[in-house]
Amino acid sequence: MDYKQQVAQAIQDVIGNDLSIEEIIEKIEVPKTLKMGDYAFPAFVLSKVMHKAPQIIAGEIVEKINQDDFEKVEAVGPYVNFFLDKKKFGKDIISQVLIEKNHYGDLNLGNNGNVTIDMSSPNIAKPMSMGHLRSTVIGNSLAELLKKTNYNPIKINHLGDWGTQFGKLIEAYKLWGNEEEVKKDPINTLLKYYVRFHKEDQENPELDDEARAWFKKLEDGDPEATRLWKWFRDESLNFFMKIYKRLGITFDSYNGEAFYNDKMQPVIDELKEKGLLEESQGAMIVDLSKYDLNPALIQKSDGTSLYITRDLAAAIYRKNTYNFVQSLYVMGNEQSNHFHQLVAVLKEMGYDWANDMHHVAFGLITSGGKKLSTRRGNIILLEEVLDDAVELAQKQIEEKNPTLKDKEKVADEVGVGAVVFHDLKNERLNQFDFDLQEVVRFEGETGPYVQYSHARAMSILRKANINENSNLSIEGLDDPDAWETVRMLSEFPAMIERAVKEYEPSVIAKYAIRLAKAFNKYYAHTKILTNDSQREERLALVQSVAIVLKESLRLLGVKAPDEM
Ligand code: ARG
Repeated sequence: MDYKQQVAQAIQDVIGNDLSIEEIIEKIEVPKTLKMGDYAFPAFVLSKVMHKAPQIIAGEIVEKINQDDFEKVEAVGPYVNFFLDKKKFGKDIISQVLIEKNHYGDLNLGNNGNVTIDMSSPNIAKPMSMGHLRSTVIGNSLAELLKKTNYNPIKINHLGDWGTQFGKLIEAYKLWGNEEEVKKDPINTLLKYYVRFHKEDQENPELDDEARAWFKKLEDGDPEATRLWKWFRDESLNFFMKIYKRLGITFDSYNGEAFYNDKMQPVIDELKEKGLLEESQGAMIVDLSKYDLNPALIQKSDGTSLYITRDLAAAIYRKNTYNFVQSLYVMGNEQSNHFHQLVAVLKEMGYDWANDMHHVAFGLITSGGKKLSTRRGNIILLEEVLDDAVELAQKQIEEKNPTLKDKEKVADEVGVGAVVFHDLKNERLNQFDFDLQEVVRFEGETGPYVQYSHARAMSILRKANINENSNLSIEGLDDPDAWETVRMLSEFPAMIERAVKEYEPSVIAKYAIRLAKAFNKYYAHTKILTNDSQREERLALVQSVAIVLKESLRLLGVKAPDEM
């Protein structure tokens, strides 16, 4: 049921083959206000071929077009405006939503092809940052969107559990560490050591040499280094798991950087064989000047590996293991140079599939306008953000609906959902400032607002003794006030497609806000439960809204409580 297609067909029936259906569809616009119709065709695209003024062409099209399937078709200046048959359109859309339920908007774009998603990937012995939250929730939402469009997503947590920083951490622990202290509060304690290390090495550069030596030992399998490393890793992972649990997010693989320790040598050998490795001041590099990039440093002069070495091994491992059709990397845009180098080296190695790798980049989260940094100890702690958000949600529920059952559970779903929604509502490349009060508001463009709109729809249905699965038979709404909501419902599949193609969950978050707004406006001036001949039609609309809002939130990884 594609109305644009229908409009395009009607136009082509008049103009003949001057433009193909696809070309016409491409030109069709959606007018800014409903007064100008539902679709508009700009006739000036034909003035060259038809050698006529666009106003004249628009007039001729209207004269000749078959108006039967439309409420009306009219020419306004160079535009032909189409008004759809609202009753029929509404009937079609609402019936479709009620039949397909949460499968409304399912598409087959992927033919079940595998898509690996490198996401979250926090660093061991450091707190999970707001940046990692972004990667986690964007990655998770993309996984849901990919599933909905018939891809098979594979969520990989590429843990930062290897690298020179472990040398630093071991050195710091050796100098100032205390086992009891670490056990009591692992992440914060390890972070404290790490921050102290970075302070002291400013004055004592030999600390860095010690740290490098420890990492070298770790890569060579030294038992003491390995024991400490494993301990730090286990403690950190335990802690991360708690956050993932609160977010309701799972992974298919936790193969982090350390997993590739024994898989890097073959890559280095292959680079050598292919004549790509050059020596530079004792280190091994791959020249990337033909890509306009700095050389990729593959092996340091002491023989240790680098971040990119492990990423090369990981990319190849993923291709061999999952034979992906796309391989996504959800990481901050500050890593774009790293990503380009990674892809360039793989291309140099002759791997065409490097073209299927995509950097799903995102912007910084700031606080009070300032950049956050673990090294300087200037961070927002994610677990504190979630706690505070839940507490704020609790307060609001206490004010607005003190008798609500399951208050704790709902507060949790609203608080955590608010943080996730806020993150996803921002186009991923935009930088944004984090302000908790703003995030948890029940009004405005927030997650709680969308959840609240869904709960309101559910409450109307409860009053009418209808649930999400009731079968309503409908003929279409006569009420013009319902039109905006109906149109919004019809846009859902197109939104899904756009969100997946652009790797942009914000498309869905923004859509959910618009749908919620349209519905709330409708609800504000329509008595839904009045007993008249249109009652069931209105309830069907409410039910459709509940289904699509809930599905939108699900795609974002946000819960939709039935009451709040
Ligand atoms: N651990 C890195 C960080 O926190 C992110 C890793 C991203 N994934 C990758 N394959 N490089 O910055």
